[in-house]
Amino acid sequence: MVDNGSFAAALKEDNRTNPYSHFASLRKTPVLRQEDSTYIVSTHAEIRSLLHDPRVSSSDRPKPKHPKTGNPLRDFILNPIKDRILYTHQPLIFRDPPDHTRLRRIVAMQFTPERMREINGCIHAIIGGLFANMQGRGEIDLVAGFSYPLPVEVICKLLGVPPGGHALFHKWSSSLIGVLDPMWQACEEERFKTLASYEALMEYLNALIKAKRKRPEADILSGLVSFKDKKLGRMGRFDLLATASLLLVAGHETTVNLIANGMLTLLRYPEWLERLRQDHSLAPRIVDEVLRFEPPVQFRTRKALADIEIGGTVIPKDAHLVLLFAAGNRDPQRFAHPERFDPGRGDNQHFGFGGGPHFCIGAALARLEAEAALVALADRLIDPRLLEDPPPYRPGASVRGPERLLVQIGGVN
Ligand code: HEM
Repeated sequence: MVDNGSFAAALKEDNRTNPYSHFASLRKTPVLRQEDSTYIVSTHAEIRSLLHDPRVSSSDRPKPKHPKTGNPLRDFILNPIKDRILYTHQPLIFRDPPDHTRLRRIVAMQFTPERMREINGCIHAIIGGLFANMQGRGEIDLVAGFSYPLPVEVICKLLGVPPGGHALFHKWSSSLIGVLDPMWQACEEERFKTLASYEALMEYLNALIKAKRKRPEADILSGLVSFKDKKLGRMGRFDLLATASLLLVAGHETTVNLIANGMLTLLRYPEWLERLRQDHSLAPRIVDEVLRFEPPVQFRTRKALADIEIGGTVIPKDAHLVLLFAAGNRDPQRFAHPERFDPGRGDNQHFGFGGGPHFCIGAALARLEAEAALVALADRLIDPRLLEDPPPYRPGASVRGPERLLVQIGGVN
């Protein structure tokens, strides 16, 4: 009997270190219906086609619902109003055209060449500070000491969050990134927990938005607050809140994992670490291959708006689907020797940043950060060696990366 695999098995925490053999089994059936009626799409051509298919919706989340408090005013009036607002003003990653198109254009316009140039300088300065902290140490955790603090400082700087807010974001964003996992959708208790983090973040951002309205600065949040355009209009308060929270969480959690996955992979393939040290111009290729080989975003979910015939199956209207990017990235029909880490490969059309209308808005920023981070690690760590392989992983299945990366070093250049 052919083992066509199960998505649930692939997601088990025990398999987090290496879900790829499970993904290979899933690929035997490009579009596979699971017991819970979810369709798992794991081959490159089918994922690509569905990413561009207007019959596929990104609005697939359950309606927000507060837990009952026993206070009738809250339970029957205030919280249902809040739930309705949260549902109507979801972050744009969970929205469809025409709202998605309009909001995305407004946000994309904020990533101006000037802001990117300025933030590039900041990235190098932050990296310099992080290496200064490593001086004199023989053992370091590259997650806590490097891959975590860099993106949080960068996204806070870009958005205009004052330094006091950084630590709060750690707590909120690691809880909120869980909304991308199917377990979150299935479990009401998990949803209540993230709702509490979301509300705390909203309260913080609400105050920050008010401050930016009064005194706009050069940051993205100020840009969004003061944006107005004849065709695109302006962003209302609730869309502003949803967008700011999306940028903070999406811009942080994923980049932490790209840098950590990148360094882990380079330590496992030391010939590439050495080549990068010798030739910094390899950085973009190395980052792309890490995005294919160990993508921080392993999959995204969607919903069918109509019956869709694909890969020898009909996905029925209203069915939930999973686009398994990490499996498509290792599809042998698309990539030669997909199980080999090979930054020299050509035509590396991976799904590391998704694809189609929801393609990652922060891709250029993430590349800047990851390229600078990996070059600096290759250049400045003397004789780095992994102390734990595989390292322990963070709990999430959708956004995947090591919890810590203990490395022995002979010093810092
Ligand atoms: C290594 C880092 C990153 C990775 C791997 C990553 C990955 C992704 C992926 C796979 C998507 C597509 C989601 C989908 O199809 O549903 C996405 C969307 C998005 N990303 Fe990123 N991302 C990264 C960094 C960033 C950064 C730094 C920002 C912002 C500063 C950002 C903001 C966004 C936004 C706003 C969307 C939603 C776009 C839309 O729905 O139109 N991301 N990202």
